[in-house]
Amino acid sequence: MGESFPMTGGDGPSSYTKNSIQQRASAASAKSLLTSAILGNLDIERSSRMFAIADLGCSTGPNTFIAMENIIEALTQKCKIEGYSSLPEFQVYFNDHVSNDFNTLFAYLPPDRKYFASGVPGSFHGRLFPKATLNIIYSAFSLQWLSKAPQELGDVNSPAWNKGRIYYTDAPREVGQAYSLQYAKDMDSFLAARAEELAPGGLMLILMPGRPDGTLPSQNSLGPFLRPLESCLADMVDEVCKSRNVNNLEFICIYIL
Ligand SMILES: C[S@@+](CC[C@H](N)C(=O)[O-])C[C@H]1O[C@@H](n2cnc3c(N)ncnc32)[C@H](O)[C@@H]1O
Repeated sequence: MGESFPMTGGDGPSSYTKNSIQQRASAASAKSLLTSAILGNLDIERSSRMFAIADLGCSTGPNTFIAMENIIEALTQKCKIEGYSSLPEFQVYFNDHVSNDFNTLFAYLPPDRKYFASGVPGSFHGRLFPKATLNIIYSAFSLQWLSKAPQELGDVNSPAWNKGRIYYTDAPREVGQAYSLQYAKDMDSFLAARAEELAPGGLMLILMPGRPDGTLPSQNSLGPFLRPLESCLADMVDEVCKSRNVNNLEFICIYIL
């Protein structure tokens, strides 16, 4: 099992529900791409009476509800274009870590939704569904999460020791390599599990932050946010050190692109 750090639950001022506008806006700008992927690439089995969609790393909403609505709108359009006399029934599986606030997610399910809803707890780095059962696998702003921080980052004797930093920009090359290696392992296990679960003719839709080939790690779009965060964490560690009269408390962080 990897580490699990869910988004802040509930619907208070610091909840994910109230602090996920950026992700919602990015997903909205990708809507037409997703719709054309569904219209052009999905192969709907004519005899199928049930259509299964999974959102991996759904958090607490409302972004996941908007995404599911958009996907079902595109599927409905596709069924009409292909001359279906009636629509299949839609089943949506909401997945996130066990520690995600599923209560909030369920409490805010849209009452007028056109799908059946289920929660599926567990890490998407392993199997979550039976073989060949999902017609659409969707995941937004979740796959950039690592299953755990590479161990070397906290090892004083490793060239990848990442003292005082929470990410790899401006760190030694070995630090970036350690993150890259962990990411490759995680993507491997993610794709191996999804290859089993995707039904024939199904489609996987992934939205995630990244940076164009040929750009430097320092040019990643989250850099400007991570720097102040790094400096706040360093200040907090200093305060803890002072209050406990220690001078060598190290910290590393797991939230990295
Ligand atoms: C930034 S939120 C994105 C939520 C939502 N998809 C959206 O677009 O607003 C990332 C979510 O991914 C989840 N996540 C990260 N790693 C995961 C894993 N291995 N398995 C399941 N969920 C994971 C986190 O718990 C978190 O809820």
